[in-house]
Amino acid sequence: MIPIGIVTISDRASSGVYEDKSGPAIQAVLTRWLASPWTPVPRLVPDDQPAIEAALRELADEVQCPIIVTTGGTGPAPRDVTPEATTAVCDRILPGFGEQMRAVSLRTVPTAILSRQLAGTRGRSLIINLPGKPAAIDECLGAIWSAIPYCVELLGGPKLQFTANAPAYHRPATS
Ligand code: MTE
Repeated sequence: MIPIGIVTISDRASSGVYEDKSGPAIQAVLTRWLASPWTPVPRLVPDDQPAIEAALRELADEVQCPIIVTTGGTGPAPRDVTPEATTAVCDRILPGFGEQMRAVSLRTVPTAILSRQLAGTRGRSLIINLPGKPAAIDECLGAIWSAIPYCVELLGGPKLQFTANAPAYHRPATS
């Protein structure tokens, strides 16, 4: 079973003011697209940088998730600190992921430019930020899906298998 981290970052969802819909939306998309046996490892944390960093470190270092997807806390509001927490725990940032997700999202929502979402690596884990809106989940994951399997392999992770429903992906030919 491949563990995949799903981290919902929200003051209100974590305190029970409303239900977490984005975390389950990530799980639903991955269930539709991943054919490899995998198991979700969900975490629900407030918009608190130390708490977010702790969850990301645990999922990367202890659970050893090849992929960790976060949702929420990417905007410009004072409590939005997901990109700061992600940057703090990552060895390296992959700027293309955020650029691509914003570019695709801007076709449908002008406020996509407000998201500071990014992706980076910690050890063998690929950490990807998504906005907190459930509607953004499919769109943003779909925008970068084509590069995820090769990235996971380059990090030393498993060769992921996908369903026929998944967006096309690209694996460069080996010479
Ligand atoms: N991206 C997509 N695809 N769909 C959306 O609805 N909402 C935007 C943006 N990116 C959105 C999106 C808005 S309104 C905000 S404020 C930012 O993401 C940040 O959202 P977050 O703070 O919940 O992460």
